[in-house]
Amino acid sequence: MAKLTINGAPVEIDVEGTTPLLWVLREQLGLTGTKYACGIGLCGSCTVHIDGQAVRSCMVPVASLTEAQKVVTIEGLSPDGSHPVQRAWAELDVPQCGYCQPGVIMAAAALLNDNPSPSDAEIDSKLTNICRCGTFNRVRRGIHLAAELIERGRT
Ligand code: FES
Ligand code: FES
Repeated sequence: MAKLTINGAPVEIDVEGTTPLLWVLREQLGLTGTKYACGIGLCGSCTVHIDGQAVRSCMVPVASLTEAQKVVTIEGLSPDGSHPVQRAWAELDVPQCGYCQPGVIMAAAALLNDNPSPSDAEIDSKLTNICRCGTFNRVRRGIHLAAELIERGRT
C-alpha cells in the first residue's frame, strides 16, 4: 500500500513498493498526461514535480515517496491550463506531435521556479528532455516567453 499526495489530494494505492510512480499515475489514477517513452530515465516524457523539482517518474519507486511529498502532474500544474508555461506554449504553438510536451512543460516550469530568467545555455544544460519532433528552438522561445509572462504577472 502506498500513500501519496497527488495534485493536492491524498491517495492510497494498493501496489508493490517497487512500482514506478509513472505506472501508478497512468494505470491506477488515470492521469495519462504523464507519458511513457523510454522507461529508463533518459527522455523526460514522464517528468512530474516532486516538491517542486522536476523528476522522471519512471525512475521513482512509490515506496520511496511519503505522503508529505507533493507530487504534481501536468493535470495539476494549473487548474485551467493557465500556467505561464502553458500560455506561452499555446501562444507559440510549441508542440508538434505533442507526445513529449507534458514532460517538457513540467521541466520548463521547474526550471523557471529555480531560475526566473534562464539563458539559452542554461535552458540547454538544465532541460534535457528529448523531443523526436525537434521542437527545441520553440521550447527555448517558449521558456523565454513564459519568463516574461511571469515577470509581467509580478509587476
Ligand atoms: S519515460 Fe521516463 S525518462 Fe523516459
Ligand atoms: S513534439 Fe513530438 S516528440 Fe516532442
